[in-house]
Amino acid sequence: MHIQQCRIRGKEGLWELEISDGRFQKIRPQQAPAELATAVPADQIFARSDQDCINAQGRLLLPPFVEPHIHLDCVLTAGQPHYNMSGTLFEGISTWDEYKTQVPLEVAAIKDRARQALRLMAEYGVQFVRSHVDVTEASFKGVQALLELREELRGTMEIQLVAFPQNGILSTRGGKELMIRAMEMGVDCVGGIPHYEFSRDYGVDSLKFIFDLAEKYDAMVDVHCDEMDDEQSRYLEVLATEAWERGWGPRTVAAHTCAMGSYNDSYYNKLLRVLQASGIHFNACPTESIHLQGRTEPYPKRRGITRIKELSSAGLNVALGQDSIADPWYPIGTGNPLRVLDMGLHVGHLLGYQDISHALDFISVNGARNLCLGDQYGIMEGRPADFILLDAKDDYEALRFLSPVLLSVHNGKILAQKQPARAAVYDI
Ligand code: FE2
Repeated sequence: MHIQQCRIRGKEGLWELEISDGRFQKIRPQQAPAELATAVPADQIFARSDQDCINAQGRLLLPPFVEPHIHLDCVLTAGQPHYNMSGTLFEGISTWDEYKTQVPLEVAAIKDRARQALRLMAEYGVQFVRSHVDVTEASFKGVQALLELREELRGTMEIQLVAFPQNGILSTRGGKELMIRAMEMGVDCVGGIPHYEFSRDYGVDSLKFIFDLAEKYDAMVDVHCDEMDDEQSRYLEVLATEAWERGWGPRTVAAHTCAMGSYNDSYYNKLLRVLQASGIHFNACPTESIHLQGRTEPYPKRRGITRIKELSSAGLNVALGQDSIADPWYPIGTGNPLRVLDMGLHVGHLLGYQDISHALDFISVNGARNLCLGDQYGIMEGRPADFILLDAKDDYEALRFLSPVLLSVHNGKILAQKQPARAAVYDI
């Protein structure tokens, strides 16, 4: 495959890329326009061909989008057995409990729903996904289904799985054994939900157990942490301290941390010390949190979103994820990371000029850091030929128009293509 006349995010001018054997062989400033006469214009490709010479016509090429936080076992279940009427996190959890008892989970059905969601994400340029999977669901069909899917799609779309104790580790009878069972089955990351455990002590003990498991299985950590408005929900300090003590920071993600939006600044500034010392990463889910949080209070209402701007300014890595696609917690969603980013930029007061120039990092390179993708990710000669081509000339245009992904290539093979919709407007 040969891509011509593209802009590469972060570089000046026009570039061409040569791809073979699944890798970027040559990345160089545009030199030889001779092939342009036979090149396929990027907005006209539709018959999949991995051999084409494609004329990007000045469009923006960048590493693929990363979905760092979703629950593939729950996707596309909204309304079953009923919709979440209060819109709270806790009604979401109880509705999922009802679903698990009333709609017997089957491996084939879970895989089918997850595949549908992954197809949507692929259409929007996602190639790397980290999914939580509920391990307090005793049949373990969700774990089995997603492990199978992870292997079936390896090389096409990369999936990491997190053992997620939806109902708590210590607050579920046999919860520790369920976590161990998931790790033994080959799940990639240890998850947790300390703020939902029955007591403060349970929450703290669950975090120590999570890191014990991570050490034992040499696994990454990704914890739902302080996903509530309660400013007394302060498990993040415990998570970061454990990560610091054990040298696990770069392999640890604190997800949601919504309570940080309610912490007083005095406490936040003190907390920052251990956050920076530990080097843990963060994940926020703006569409999910703006919907679920702030439900228990009168006006004025808090936003229930972690401090995306302040954490980023302090040098900490923050990625944005969608959390849900049509499930008991969030009834809508398309799989498009640009939609999540759009919400995050608005609720995070992140539409300054400098903010906009870095914004796409939240759904690309920052997510790659959370997933510890390392040398597997990035537009560089010798690396896997994974990239997307947006129907935009730069970041600003991509954000303004939420531009479609015309081409998504993974390991040198076309994963998804799109022809942009064209509109005609008259008499203005
Ligand atoms: Fe989540």
